[in-house]
Amino acid sequence: MKIKNIVVTGASGKIGRHIIPELLKAGYTVRALEHEGPVAIDGVEIVKGDLSDESLPEKLVKDMDGVIHLANVKEDREKFMNVNVRGTFCMLDACLKAPNIKQYIQAGSDARAGIFYYPHPYPIDETYPHSAYPGYYAFSKVLEETMCEQYIIQYKLPITTLRFSWVHAEDDILAHATLKPPNFGVPVWEELARNSKQKIYFRKKLDGVAKLVHPGGRPGLRHIVSISDVVDAVVLAVGNEASLYQAFNVSGPAPFSYDTLAKYISEKLDIPIVEFEYDVFHDFQIDLSKSRQILGYNPKIDIFGIIDRAIEFRKSGGQRTDTKYPG
Ligand SMILES: NC(=O)c1ccc[n+]([C@@H]2O[C@H](COP(=O)([O-])OP(=O)(O)OC[C@H]3O[C@@H](n4cnc5c(N)ncnc54)[C@H](O)[C@@H]3O)[C@@H](O)[C@H]2O)c1
Repeated sequence: MKIKNIVVTGASGKIGRHIIPELLKAGYTVRALEHEGPVAIDGVEIVKGDLSDESLPEKLVKDMDGVIHLANVKEDREKFMNVNVRGTFCMLDACLKAPNIKQYIQAGSDARAGIFYYPHPYPIDETYPHSAYPGYYAFSKVLEETMCEQYIIQYKLPITTLRFSWVHAEDDILAHATLKPPNFGVPVWEELARNSKQKIYFRKKLDGVAKLVHPGGRPGLRHIVSISDVVDAVVLAVGNEASLYQAFNVSGPAPFSYDTLAKYISEKLDIPIVEFEYDVFHDFQIDLSKSRQILGYNPKIDIFGIIDRAIEFRKSGGQRTDTKYPG
């Protein structure tokens, strides 16, 4: 399968803005949908528009042979049906009518499997049933995937779904794990502060690193992914005939324990470890056997690499890009 011209929606987003330069380097011609944020990447054709405009997808996919659909909104009750669900439906339907489309890549999410909100008796593989965690965003990820599944069954549309874990770029992991703002993702540590030893950090604006523990003290286990591994997975999937008509997990090389994470950040930044008990947290890990075998996916950035990159980002004066991802 030879793909040359790819349209990317969500081009200004966290994943889109990292993927497009790699697609260009690999020799693809890229058309990018620009919505709110500017797509500040040279060498792409820009199409401006809003996915709630039903006539847009047809224009987007015209003369393209590949689609990477990343655009969406997060916890937004007003918009998620129109942009995520109807927007994806219109993209799929436009592809059905476009004669040249050889591959449609859908951004899926591990949110569709509920991550830490539900118990997971075994690592989450691709056969794990949809079971979104509460909220509109995760709900829409299941609806998007269900539409993709039906477009494969009903019309044999050549779809590859990539189910990303929580994607870490810039200093995201520090914004998540340390107590001082900026704060990113869930849980929100201040909401878990029950005793005076914990509360003092927020009252006095002191820094520390959170160690999430289950009742009884066992540290939580979680699986996330670096943006550079996500980019690798997408590039491996594009034009890969073996990837069609199915879904793949995309996560980091291994899950991490909040104990390991807290110790490493504590040593690196010389800040104390603060324990937070969270009784709704269930350990989870993502099974990557299928992605490794079929896509040749080989994630490289483990939790230490994610932390090192985040520290480097701060040291070099990097400014965080605003993100709405719930984590
Ligand atoms: N970031 C993560 O941790 C993560 C994890 C799993 C899955 N995903 C999935 O990957 C995809 C991309 O995520 P992201 O983190 O890059 O998102 P993002 O929030 O950073 O970017 C979203 C993009 O969608 C565009 N958009 C929003 N509303 C639009 C509209 N009405 N019309 C057209 N475009 C619109 C925005 O302009 C932006 O470019 C999403 O489908 C998301 O569910 C992301």
